[in-house]
Amino acid sequence: MGRLDKLPPYLFSAIDAAKEKARAAGVSVVDLGVGDPDRPTPRALVEVMARAVADPACHCYPAQRGDAGLKQAIALWLASRHGVHVDPARQVLVLVGSKEGLGHLPLTCVEEGDNVLVPDLGYPVYGQATILAGGEPRAFKLKSEMGFLPDLDELARLMDNRTRLLFLNYPNNPTGAVAGQAFWQQVVELCGERNVILVNDAAYLEVTLDGSRPASLLRAADPAADRVVELHSLSKMFNMTGWRIAFAAGHPDVVGDLARVKESIDSGVFTAIQATAAHALGESFTDLLDSVMCAYPERRRIMVDALTSAGFEVFDAAATFYVWCRVPGNESSVDFCGRALEDIGVVVTPGPGFGPGGEGWFRISLTASDEDVAEGARRIGAWK
Ligand SMILES: Cc1ncc(COP(=O)(O)O)c(C=O)c1O
Repeated sequence: MGRLDKLPPYLFSAIDAAKEKARAAGVSVVDLGVGDPDRPTPRALVEVMARAVADPACHCYPAQRGDAGLKQAIALWLASRHGVHVDPARQVLVLVGSKEGLGHLPLTCVEEGDNVLVPDLGYPVYGQATILAGGEPRAFKLKSEMGFLPDLDELARLMDNRTRLLFLNYPNNPTGAVAGQAFWQQVVELCGERNVILVNDAAYLEVTLDGSRPASLLRAADPAADRVVELHSLSKMFNMTGWRIAFAAGHPDVVGDLARVKESIDSGVFTAIQATAAHALGESFTDLLDSVMCAYPERRRIMVDALTSAGFEVFDAAATFYVWCRVPGNESSVDFCGRALEDIGVVVTPGPGFGPGGEGWFRISLTASDEDVAEGARRIGAWK
């Protein structure tokens, strides 16, 4: 079987088709499906970008591994925000969005017959990128009774001498679970013993409900010595999903190998976007972040209140802009979500879109307008 044939079907295409069909039939659809912020990029950043676009110095090919100014800003930000110390020249790499970095990582180390541990519940890219690199994704469970953290014994059992990477994602999409410092230390130790590269997809590290700072993997490890890498993204931090800017930070060899793969494929991120990112991570970072994150706590309160009043079981998330909720009764997630669209015109995502372990759950995204989130909550709350 060819690599493309091994890729699993893309569940979200079916949801998109059902949504369009409902709209065409005149249903007023409330879309709480995708995690794409409804609000614009902060004005101050758009202004920095407008100035940078007009600067001819930005019009040439960008620096391949990232602009030195941005890499310096990233290193300073990691130190001040997360207490993490990296050499910007050797341990930081600018990415065309974190999806790009995650997608290319297996190409750095996976040979035919190797395997990669991927969470079942997780962003589908980890497994797909493994397959495209010729490897075998090995799924491990994230269970509600463990707060959607993996069982370290299960991880140890799944690892063998062909295991190259372990993908984790905390704060977690779709559940909103957060990993603490002690957990990270244990996984760093396990991966060190087994010579497995540990990756944390930290796309939601700054998407918290109360301004807290979830633990960075890089804080629990020694990124100069341990083979770890963390991928950070400005997409959700600053409502910049369309801009495509993120970065990897970690062990110099892991970061360097990823840079070598990228050198064969892309030519870096538009310098004007890199200049804007450097500004975003600078002195005004906290104010900018607050101006973005302030939208979510009230939306979550309204949604969770409606769900719990209607008898739904909601996972008590500490981060992300998702609500992870159990499907009532014995109905399958796909049937339940299909009925939500048919009966009340609300789009929510069935849990199996993130792996078989998502059966019996669905995800609500809070990235629609305040009005739509309130209307979605009202419709779900009144649904019989
Ligand atoms: C868990 C997770 N990781 C990575 C990404 C990709 O983000 P980016 O826009 O940085 O490519 C997403 C996007 O939704 C995501 O949910």
